[in-house]
Amino acid sequence: MKPKIVIGNWKMNKGFEEAEDLISEIEEKLQDYNFETEIVLCPPMLYAELVTDHANEEGSQFYAGVQNVSEYENGAYTGEVSAEMLAGMDVSFCIVGHSERRKYFGETNAIVLKKMLRLLTNDIVPVMCCGETLEERKAEKHFEVVQKQIEETIYQLTPKQLESTMIAYEPIWAIGTGETATPDQAQEMLSFIRSLIEKKFGTEMAVNTYILYGGSCNGKNALELFSQPDVDGGLIGGASLKADEFMKIIEAGETVIKEN
Ligand code: PGA
Repeated sequence: MKPKIVIGNWKMNKGFEEAEDLISEIEEKLQDYNFETEIVLCPPMLYAELVTDHANEEGSQFYAGVQNVSEYENGAYTGEVSAEMLAGMDVSFCIVGHSERRKYFGETNAIVLKKMLRLLTNDIVPVMCCGETLEERKAEKHFEVVQKQIEETIYQLTPKQLESTMIAYEPIWAIGTGETATPDQAQEMLSFIRSLIEKKFGTEMAVNTYILYGGSCNGKNALELFSQPDVDGGLIGGASLKADEFMKIIEAGETVIKEN
């Protein structure tokens, strides 16, 4: 079993000092252990340098990530940040196509794909988010919706590009709502996504691709979610804003690895 990955998505939260404090608290808690679980912190873009500075320190146990990137290369795009700039700041991971970006900023699968390609060209790992709305699930369209998202993004990559890409399944009805998908629902969808990858890219690639669950994952439910065979880790929103709670999720990742 490959090590789990736990990614903290801070969204648009924390003032600068609070961000510094949270990073230090997480660092302090991590220093007594040697975790196999890979940890990524994605603070607001403005704090990218703060998190990369810490991630670059000797013995650091986490990677630096951000939550968005421009689909454009460089130039007259006021307010945007390019993948090349992120690479220059030593950012290693970037969330793309989060449902909040799709909903509030009009990100389509085509835009998500462009962003992924920019990141891959600059050696940054895209964490591509997919997932259905509550209405789509109620109408039993969730597999169809996720399949389309995968076909229009992941299927457009070369095998080599997919090797450096991760997927996060986040049912929109579970994000920030406190309503987590059941372990069975998460497993069912992640296994479906893996089967889609297998169909296009073969078994080895399907086994190696990291597919995470996100949506109200917390210290209480992480162990059960991470124990599912196809859940390779979690994309964590609210519960990543408190060091104690975030640590519980990382510990859940460790427990599952040690038991297998
Ligand atoms: P949540 O958010 O853990 O607060 O539900 C997850 C996410 O949106 O990435």
